[in-house]
Amino acid sequence: MELKIYEDYESLSMNTASEIIAQVRRKPDSVFCLAAGDTPRLAYTRLAELASAQKVDFGGCSFVGLDEWLGISPKNEGSCAYFLHHNLFSPLGIDSAQIRLFDSLAPDAVIECRKMDEHIRHKEGIDLMLVGVGMNGHIGFNEPGVRGDLYAHIIDLDDTTRSVGQKYFKRNTRLQQGITLGLRHFLESRSVLVVASGAKKATIMRQALEGPVTTDVPASLVRKHSNALVMLDRDAAGSIEKQAPR
Ligand code: F6R
Repeated sequence: MELKIYEDYESLSMNTASEIIAQVRRKPDSVFCLAAGDTPRLAYTRLAELASAQKVDFGGCSFVGLDEWLGISPKNEGSCAYFLHHNLFSPLGIDSAQIRLFDSLAPDAVIECRKMDEHIRHKEGIDLMLVGVGMNGHIGFNEPGVRGDLYAHIIDLDDTTRSVGQKYFKRNTRLQQGITLGLRHFLESRSVLVVASGAKKATIMRQALEGPVTTDVPASLVRKHSNALVMLDRDAAGSIEKQAPR
């Protein structure tokens, strides 16, 4: 695992965007799994700008969903799907045929999980997975205490995720379960980027990077991945900075 610490959110975002572009250059038919949420928001803006300026062609790439609020429509502005379409796919001009997100309204969510697993298998796995880190250490919706050997699955959201998640919604929304790729997908992805920004993430990032490797802090599993890059801004690295290379 490699750790890189950037001066601020702008520099973190620019470098995150550059990592994605480097992946497309290395492998033009890359399979990406890119998180929604506040952390990568600016990275996606910078990505669209860089891709346009440098004429990067995403036409051969494909995108799979990381997670979704179960039962929340993709038309809801708080959904991961809405976020990804508005902040990533539309700005990059990605065709819908290149995208496979979770159907959060599927009549049978377990079947939906198996379909996603099959889709990823058919694509021969994920080349680059970019995840943020929840305030409770979750990645995707792999909540503390989750099994580490799962592919896509349904999970009860913990109290932190239910309350923090309200920030994405215009009005108070009942958030109970998530549908998510599993930690097994994370560990099997050919490369992973774990990105965190802001002082509010400093404590959980210290636990993830310096505490025990345990599914009680799902982000700590990054240390088991052989091709992982953790990217933090200075504030998110605030509690680990003394030990970490700069
Ligand atoms: C979103 C996702 C979540 C977020 C995490 C951090 O697709 O998978 O795990 O990455 O909750 O959220 P932000 O970036 O809003 O702090």
